[in-house]
Amino acid sequence: MSQPTNDVKHYFQRPGTVARWWNPEDERDPHFAHFREQLTWAMAQVAWEGQRVLDVGTGKGRFAIPCAQAGARVTAIDISGEMLAQARQRAQQAGLSPCFVQGDAEHLPFSSQAFDVVSCMESLMHVPHPQQAVAEAARVVRPGGQTIFSMTNKWRINALANLPQACARALRLNRSPAGPQIAWYYSTRTFRRWLQQAGLRVCLLRGQGLFQAGARLAFTRRFSIPLFPRAFADWFFARIEPRLRQSPLLHVMGTVMAIAVAEEP
Ligand SMILES: C[S@@+](CC[C@H](N)C(=O)[O-])C[C@H]1O[C@@H](n2cnc3c(N)ncnc32)[C@H](O)[C@@H]1O
Repeated sequence: MSQPTNDVKHYFQRPGTVARWWNPEDERDPHFAHFREQLTWAMAQVAWEGQRVLDVGTGKGRFAIPCAQAGARVTAIDISGEMLAQARQRAQQAGLSPCFVQGDAEHLPFSSQAFDVVSCMESLMHVPHPQQAVAEAARVVRPGGQTIFSMTNKWRINALANLPQACARALRLNRSPAGPQIAWYYSTRTFRRWLQQAGLRVCLLRGQGLFQAGARLAFTRRFSIPLFPRAFADWFFARIEPRLRQSPLLHVMGTVMAIAVAEEP
């Protein structure tokens, strides 16, 4: 696995890249339910009315648009012009006018303490220096203001599903060219350290998806009978898995989310 470099920023700036594969709001997407649930949870964490919100790595506005609908004054930033164009169009269709800005999460073009809430959903994995992006989020939120992050967890157990492919590559059995690496994953422990080093007090770390959505679908389809009957899987993920999200098992869940507050001086 290579170290992240700034080249990844060129990838995200090119049209026909992330806008093609990131469609969590499309009901046909295997991650639809996972991300809809995540959005519902994140929206319930803040009383949005009148809040000055910055959404970093906003993509197609999945989080920014509901925040604006809930009465927040939203600014949203992304490095991809193509993603922003789609976000703008969706906002217009909803009769909303958040301020969309093209820019880099590692160098936010905003003054310090300018926002009440800063969110950064599913984007830290794609930034070459995520610790700097967290520090920037902490810089632009006011003292006592809230930050909300979500990212894919390095130690998610469903990553085991990638092992056969990794072994095949290592043994040179799979010769199809690998695409450019555009994501790097970090543990919940590293994530917590970044937040603390940025001067944020971690109020909540929460896992989601004991198996990430895609893997969960593949798993339940492949092993549905009799090892893990579909009905049992549905019951497990509806009733049991949500109770484990703040248990030590969060460290091996697919997604990790954090709520952290900027320390008051
Ligand atoms: C997986 S998408 C998530 C989008 C959105 N937050 C959501 O949850 O639907 C990652 C987003 O991060 C953006 N991104 C990647 N690197 C970035 C950077 N250095 N600065 C700002 N945005 C970046 C990408 O263009 C993309 O829109």
